[in-house]
Amino acid sequence: MPSLNIAEVRENFKNSLASAKNIQELEEVRIKYSGKKGELTLLLRSLGNLPKDERKEAGIKLNELRDEFEKDIELTSKKLRDSENEQLEINERIDVTLPAKNNLNGTFHPVVQTMHEIANIMQGLGYSVATGPELEEDFYNFEALNIPKWHPARDMQDTFYLPDGKLLRTHTSPVQVHAMLEFGAPLRIICPGKVYRRDNDTTHSPMFNQMEGLLIDKDVPFSVLKGTMSEMLNAFFGRKLNYRFRASYFPFTEPSMELDIECVKCSGHDENCRVCHGTGWLEVAGMGMVHPNVIRAGKIDPEIYNGFAFGIGLDRMAMLKYGINDLRLLFDGDVSFLLSGF
Ligand code: FA5
Ligand code: MG
Repeated sequence: MPSLNIAEVRENFKNSLASAKNIQELEEVRIKYSGKKGELTLLLRSLGNLPKDERKEAGIKLNELRDEFEKDIELTSKKLRDSENEQLEINERIDVTLPAKNNLNGTFHPVVQTMHEIANIMQGLGYSVATGPELEEDFYNFEALNIPKWHPARDMQDTFYLPDGKLLRTHTSPVQVHAMLEFGAPLRIICPGKVYRRDNDTTHSPMFNQMEGLLIDKDVPFSVLKGTMSEMLNAFFGRKLNYRFRASYFPFTEPSMELDIECVKCSGHDENCRVCHGTGWLEVAGMGMVHPNVIRAGKIDPEIYNGFAFGIGLDRMAMLKYGINDLRLLFDGDVSFLLSGF
């Protein structure tokens, strides 16, 4: 009987509606009652089967029921939507007072930064950047630098030799000869690059970085070499620190000296200091007036031209600037060396 069915369908509908927890479940309720095969739809379709005198009244009731359904569905849908939005707002609320995440940006390795900084300073003084091979011939690494085969100075730099007689350059000085042969005089170049020696302790690494410098011109005085080094140090460290030029020996320069910088770690107060071993000083560069034999090897006339050269230990400069107490740490692959703010 339609009248009975109507009451039952309404009650079931109301119950289903009350238990719909979200929009999707509500849609299921809608389909169950007023979808194509929904219970209300079927009732409306069965109107034609009723006796004529009952049909009108049942029709009115069913249409009222349909209106009621639609209104209820709409109301419930709005309610569910509102509460879903509210939940969404709570879940996705941004607390602007929370501390920001630490953004780890990558940056250049301290040795590369040091290389760039010193290269910039030297370029400011008119030097151009030259390059040379790391796999070098004996001639450029030794012979042309006034170090013949028998020369005891070969022992100063313990060399990695290759079976074919080539070697891993032990310093950037061979670039002096390459540059003179390529560009002639006058000349003002720097050459940063990797060099290799059989060395390994807190201030020596088997692979390290040097920056060679070479100035060839007429009547170059020794004082310009000292002035250039002082300029470079002050600009690089950004403050005046103690340094000293110490007389030394290199076969390819005469006179020669080495540059020591005060130990930034202990200033000489710690006899067990890993950086300076209690001496208070760390050697960072070798230099001198280029030997006439080397100028000659570069096919330049030493009677007309002279000049100076220097070789800076870039890793040691980085160590001093960034307060690193073991040079080998720089090459251990520690990624924290590659983070900005290091
Ligand atoms: C030389 O290599 C010369 N070629 C420098 C030079 C160039 C002199 C031009 C005259 C004219 P020395 O062996 O002292 O010199 O090395 C130069 C610098 O490289 C040192 O002062 C030091 O700072 C750095 N150094 C040397 N050996 C190592 C090593 N094993 N690990 C890290 N740094 C090193
Ligand atoms: Mg030295």
